Amino acid sequence: MRKPIIVGNWKMNKTIAEAVAFIDAVDGVCHDGATYGVGAPFLALAESVKHANHLIVAAENCHFEDSGAFTGEVSVPMLEEIGVKWCIIGHSERREMFGDTDETVNKKAKRLIQAGITPIVCIGESEAQYDAGESEAVIRSQLSGSLADLCADCVKDIVIAYEPIWAIGTGKSASVEIAQQCCHIVRDQIEKMYGKEAAEAVRVQYGGSVKPENIVEYMAQPDIDGALIGGASLKVDSFTDIINKTQ
Ligand code: G3H
Repeated sequence: MRKPIIVGNWKMNKTIAEAVAFIDAVDGVCHDGATYGVGAPFLALAESVKHANHLIVAAENCHFEDSGAFTGEVSVPMLEEIGVKWCIIGHSERREMFGDTDETVNKKAKRLIQAGITPIVCIGESEAQYDAGESEAVIRSQLSGSLADLCADCVKDIVIAYEPIWAIGTGKSASVEIAQQCCHIVRDQIEKMYGKEAAEAVRVQYGGSVKPENIVEYMAQPDIDGALIGGASLKVDSFTDIINKTQ
């Protein structure tokens, strides 16, 4: 049985004070039936980790090198020092705007796993690729590059977030059928790369305009183990609603 995992991705939102207030309000609502968490901006991570007892706190990115001339970047040892145990990598916004590629995502995944930090690896096709019927090919190719040369046992613990770019922040969520179909392709590709045991253990999230009104139908799908949530994770009320609906 895979434990559901629901993570809010705050992106470039929330000051330290706002992050702490959110965590203080939501932490006690979490229950043991699922893993709940938030992806917080770098500056808010340390205080968020201190305040979270039930919520997991994820960084939203990292660099794969430990130190050096990489102005503005944050390394995995820096995350380790403040007790971060989870890290979102390869989000489409990073791929589109900040040059992340399957190759750099793969290097980040390897470094995180080495540090005992669980990667939440994001993949997903663009609207043009979706319209051209290329979703499956894109999903397989992104996974094949981003998860290359990991150990099968490590893959069991990671989380994959399938987020079709056309559904992110648009209010145009993927239909339950498409989300299930694509999350199934994710699992099938993991099986091809790392075997059945890893494929059955890995947790796959759907992301893209998830909200309290649609979370339950996504969670009912056999290959969807959770959600990566942007907009609806910013307000205490809507995230609490999502937690309550996934009891
Ligand atoms: O990481 C989260 C996704 O980008 C989804 O964002 O829920 O605002 O569509 P959204």
